[in-house]
Amino acid sequence: MEVKTICCIGAGYVGGPTMAVIAEKCPHIKVTVVDLNEKRIAAWNDENLDNIPVYEPGLAAVVGAARGRNLFFSTEVDKAIDEADMIFISVNTPTKTYGVGKGMAADLKYIELCARQIARVAKTDKIVVEKSTLPVRTASAIKDILDHTGNGVNFQILSNPEFLAEGTAVADLHNPDRVLIGGDTTPEGQKAIQALADIYANWVSKDRILTTNVWSSELSKLTANAFLAQRVSSINAMSELCEKTGADVNEVAKAIGMDSRIGPKFLKSSVGFGGSCFQKDILNLVYIAKSYGLNEVADYWEQVIIMNDHQKRRFAKNIISTLYNTVSGKKITFLGWAFKKDTNDTRESAAIYVADDLLSEQAHIAVYDPKVEEEQVYADLNYLETRSEQENKSGVAVHTNPYEACKDSHAIAVLTEWDEFKTYDWQKIYDSMLKPAFVFDGRNLLDKNQLEKIGFVYQSIGS
Ligand code: NAD
Ligand code: UGA
Repeated sequence: MEVKTICCIGAGYVGGPTMAVIAEKCPHIKVTVVDLNEKRIAAWNDENLDNIPVYEPGLAAVVGAARGRNLFFSTEVDKAIDEADMIFISVNTPTKTYGVGKGMAADLKYIELCARQIARVAKTDKIVVEKSTLPVRTASAIKDILDHTGNGVNFQILSNPEFLAEGTAVADLHNPDRVLIGGDTTPEGQKAIQALADIYANWVSKDRILTTNVWSSELSKLTANAFLAQRVSSINAMSELCEKTGADVNEVAKAIGMDSRIGPKFLKSSVGFGGSCFQKDILNLVYIAKSYGLNEVADYWEQVIIMNDHQKRRFAKNIISTLYNTVSGKKITFLGWAFKKDTNDTRESAAIYVADDLLSEQAHIAVYDPKVEEEQVYADLNYLETRSEQENKSGVAVHTNPYEACKDSHAIAVLTEWDEFKTYDWQKIYDSMLKPAFVFDGRNLLDKNQLEKIGFVYQSIGS
């Protein structure tokens, strides 16, 4: 079958960019992205492309080219479901905050709501595609709901997990390492797989489109994120050992990365990984393993999270001990708040946890991030519920000028690896700070020799 209309439920960091690229590459397909969040949809429709809700290099141009032609953003969920041949579910699947599996399992309530809505509205056969990251075997729950409350129409469920990374979403979507499609082994299932593969084949070469059964596809997504996060925790574990032994983690990473079996990517030591998915997906994996009684498997993967929490905490502890064991009343400037460069996303950013620890020691924090809004910084801290909103407000100042943010501070902490930080006039910053002027580089981003020559006391991770 040839797909002519697509609906995507969820206009977030995945739904927005993935559908924009499908619309760009497939002008013959009408793509409608729907969301309950009216403010978000209004932002996607904003005439000024600088105001679309997801910041990604290159995304505004892709949206600008397709929007109004064959790409639409709307809050009319029922209408878009009704019209679509293929429906992507791209809603959030956060860690459960209540009940059984609290703090570990994925909360599937948004997924189930989507399935029930599709079941209620659909009057023609549909292919339903899981784009969200889901626990293995979720497709069977979706199928159950669709088959039992539907209007007698046929549904095929596919798993098509997304592997894009934020900050490089458009490049990753244009040129994916692979596209993974899992479906039923029945003839109808194979037809549905083919229909989705045909869409990707408009710009992805066939040898990169991989098809599997549904369960392998669902589990491959969790496995990929677990392996990636494990690499970061592994190099971060070595960073602490480097600091004790005089080895340099950058040199170690280079030396091991040249082994073609290990490879050079994803070996950058840091203040700890953040982002909405690594922690959530590993906790979900741990929960699934435990639910099958596989306690050793669960413990093995949980250690990746334990190491990451330790890395964030020890960064804050080191700032406190280096600043003569007290930061009370001291101004500490954070360069960066996003969880990585080239995104405005702050979910699970290490900066939030480091700030929280320093605020508990009564530091005054000044934040500058080129893409993160002031209200987001406060929302992130308030979400932790460590102290009152008023206390967060008085402990943290958010700046739009980095030089202002650094003025009169005791120390600068680099929390995100934004390229622009390297280009600053560091002499000017040094002159405006209290002495001794400290830099804690949580991303090993800045030039140690240059900063030390100016007079900074410079500390990086893992050396
Ligand atoms: P997000 O929170 O940015 O977006 C999800 C959107 O879904 C929200 O705007 C929300 O309002 C909407 N929504 C929720 N329930 C809805 C409903 N019933 N009807 C209509 N809209 C609804 O989340 P995201 O970052 O885009 O992630 C979505 C999924 O993709 C998650 O499962 C995540 O694990 C996975 N994923 C994310 C990334 C990433 O880089 N962010 C990458 C790969 C996979
Ligand atoms: C990650 C995966 O890379 C994507 O393939 C996946 O689709 C996505 O999760 C998801 O499922 O949400 P993302 O979290 O957007 O993408 O960004 P990454 O580049 O993976 O970085 C994650 C975190 O690890 C960031 O905080 C980053 O700074 C940190 N990191 C990454 C390091 O500290 N060192 C590294 O070498 C690499």
